[in-house]
Amino acid sequence: MDIKISPSMLASDFANFEAELKKCEDAGAELIHLDVMDGHFVPNITMGAPVIKALKRVCKVPFDVHLMISEPLKYIEDFADAGADLISFHVECDSDTEETIDKIIACGCKAALAVKPNTSIDAVYPYMDKLSMVLVMTVEPGFGGQSFMADMMPKIEKLRKDYPDVDIQVDGGVNAETIKVCANAGANIFVAGSAVFKSENPAETISLLKRNAKGL
Ligand code: DX5
Ligand code: ZN
Repeated sequence: MDIKISPSMLASDFANFEAELKKCEDAGAELIHLDVMDGHFVPNITMGAPVIKALKRVCKVPFDVHLMISEPLKYIEDFADAGADLISFHVECDSDTEETIDKIIACGCKAALAVKPNTSIDAVYPYMDKLSMVLVMTVEPGFGGQSFMADMMPKIEKLRKDYPDVDIQVDGGVNAETIKVCANAGANIFVAGSAVFKSENPAETISLLKRNAKGL
């Protein structure tokens, strides 16, 4: 499986997005993770499609857009037009799951389904034939900088056993140590916010994460 690091811009300096994106690009990040929150599905509000569209103009790395919003179906077209390459939404949201996946694919993006910590991984199984990726949350969605929940690993192990080829992403509390646990469980795409942007040297941290995920 390809190992990919997806730095979460939520932990970056919002006044310097372009420079922060450049750091990720130069360090070889394979994806850029953009957390969209609506103050309804989760308590926090972050960024929307217009911001992502602006960032797209200054970054060549594919955009991994994580929708933590109640009604993703309403906004899929906006995020696709803004330049999302991969769109994740939550199985716990209010939109119809199948319809939302179909819309993402019809808009030319890869579709992913995310599960919150209290949701069984079985919830994604009916949709696996259409999904490029499954996002297993290792914190409650809503805020960066929370502690990694190691007890989510059995979900990843089960999914990897049943689907050897699907991309499995982990998001929440991923750092140079916890990434090893996630990789051992079978995850291959790693979101890291605080670990990257609160470090002294984000570029070095990205390479370290990559090495640790590969077990080098
Ligand atoms: C949390 C977001 C995460 C967050 C991760 O709801 O989905 O992507 O930015 O941040 P860290 O890596 O700091 O836990
Ligand atoms: Zn996220």
